[in-house]
Amino acid sequence: MNDITIVVLAAGRSTRFLSKKSKLTQDLAGQPVISYVYNTAKKISKNVVVVCNKNNFIELKSLLKNSKFIIQKVQKGTADAIKVAKPYIKTKNFIVLFGDVPLINISSIKRLIKNFKINNHASMIAFETSNPFGYGRVVQYNNVVQKVVEEINTNKEEKKINICNSGIMMVNTKYFFKNLKLIKINKKKNEKYITDLFEIYFTKKKPFYICIADEKEMIGINTIDDYNKVNKILQYNIYNKFIKNGVLIKNPETSQFSYDAIISPGVIIDSNVIIGNEVNIKPGTRIKSFSNLEGVKIEENCIVGPNARIRPSSKIKKNTKIGNFVEIKNSTIGSKTSISHLSYIGDSIVGNEVNIGAGTITCNYDGKNKNKTKIGNKAFIGSNCSLIAPIKLGNNVKIGAGSVINKNIPNNKLAIRRSKLKIY
Ligand code: UD1
Ligand code: MG
Repeated sequence: MNDITIVVLAAGRSTRFLSKKSKLTQDLAGQPVISYVYNTAKKISKNVVVVCNKNNFIELKSLLKNSKFIIQKVQKGTADAIKVAKPYIKTKNFIVLFGDVPLINISSIKRLIKNFKINNHASMIAFETSNPFGYGRVVQYNNVVQKVVEEINTNKEEKKINICNSGIMMVNTKYFFKNLKLIKINKKKNEKYITDLFEIYFTKKKPFYICIADEKEMIGINTIDDYNKVNKILQYNIYNKFIKNGVLIKNPETSQFSYDAIISPGVIIDSNVIIGNEVNIKPGTRIKSFSNLEGVKIEENCIVGPNARIRPSSKIKKNTKIGNFVEIKNSTIGSKTSISHLSYIGDSIVGNEVNIGAGTITCNYDGKNKNKTKIGNKAFIGSNCSLIAPIKLGNNVKIGAGSVINKNIPNNKLAIRRSKLKIY
C-alpha cells in the first residue's frame, strides 16, 4: 500500500522521561523504542517519513536505515510536527503514528484504514483504560469524535472519561492541511496540539470516525513508569509465544527476552535469565538461573549456567556444559565439552570432548590485539591455567593445573609449568 504516506512523530523532547537521551532511542527488548513503530509502518507502506529533532536526528538516522527524515527545529507541538512533514506527503491520504506508542499492531492499522474508507475522510484510534490520566480524553457524540481534551485542559467530568486518544489517525491530506492552519497555540503549554483538530472537524460536520483498539497496544511511553508498563506487556507477548510452543519457562516474569530470540520447544529456561539479541537455543537445552546470553547459537542438550555469561559471535555445540561463572566470547565450543566453573574463554575454538578446569583463562588481549586460542579434541586443561594467545593446543593434550602456557603444544603431549614447591 504505497498510496498512503505514514508520518511517524519522533521529535518530542522526552522531558517527562527525565533523560537527555531521547526516549525513542532507549532499548526496549533488544531494539530502540522507535524501531517498533517504524518497522510496523514499513510493513504497511514504503512511504514512511520520520519527524525528528536536531538532537536525535543523527542517532535515529543510524538506527532507521533508508528512512526519510525531516527535522522539526523547534518543538512547537504535535500539530506543528505534522506541518513540518507536509512537503513529504504527496499521497491523497496519510496516517500519523506516534513514535512513543510502540506496541501498535499491523492489524490495528489495517482496521484504521478500513474504518477510514467508510467516509474516505478521517478516522482515529481510541482505547479504553481504567487509568486515563495523562491521555487526551475522547468526547463522543453519536459515536463520532466531538472533541479530544488534553489532560491539562480537562474539567472534573472530562477527567472521568476513560476512552482515550491513541494519537494514531488517518486523514485526507488536502482537507487536513486546510484545517491544520486553524489550530491555535495552547497557552498553557505554548504548543499547537493536533488534538484540537477533532473539534474543528466536528464543528464543520466532518467528524472523525472512531476505531477502538486494545489498551495494551496503545500505551504511550512518556515516563519511565510507562516504559516499564510497555516492557512488561511486550515481555509477556514474547514469552507467552514460547510457552505456547512448548518452551518450559519458569517464573517467566523474572526473565527478559529480546524481540528476536529463537527458542525451540523442549528448551528449559529457569528463572532470572536474560536472553539478549541474536540468541538461538535448540531443543533439550537448559538455561539455568542468572545466565546472560547474547549473540549465541546453543545446540541441543546443553546445560548453561547458573550465572553463565555468553557474549556475541559464539556457538555452543551439542551436549556441552557451560557452568557457573563462565564467560564465553566470540568462541566456538565443541560438543560434549565441559567448562564447568569460573573460566573466561574468548576468541577461541575449542574442540569436542574437551575438559577445561576451574579458573582457566584464555589470555586473548595483549594490550593491542585480540589473539586466538585453539584447543584440540579431547584436550584436558587442568584448573587455573593461563593460556596466552595466540596459541594452539593439539588433540589429546593435557595441561597440568596452575600452568601458564605461551607456546603451542603438539598432539598427545602433557605440558606443565609450575614453580617448584619449597617448604621451609
Ligand atoms: C499525545 C496526545 C494525547 C494522546 C497521547 C497518546 C497531543 C497534543 N496529545 O499526548 O491526546 O492521548 O499522545 O499517547 O497530541 N512530538 C513531536 N513534536 C513535538 C511534540 C511531540 O514530534 O513538538 C512527538 C513525540 O516525540 C511523540 C508524539 O509526538 O512521539 C506525541 O507527543 P507527546 O509529547 O508524547 O504527547 P502526549 O503528551 O503523550
Ligand atoms: Mg506521548
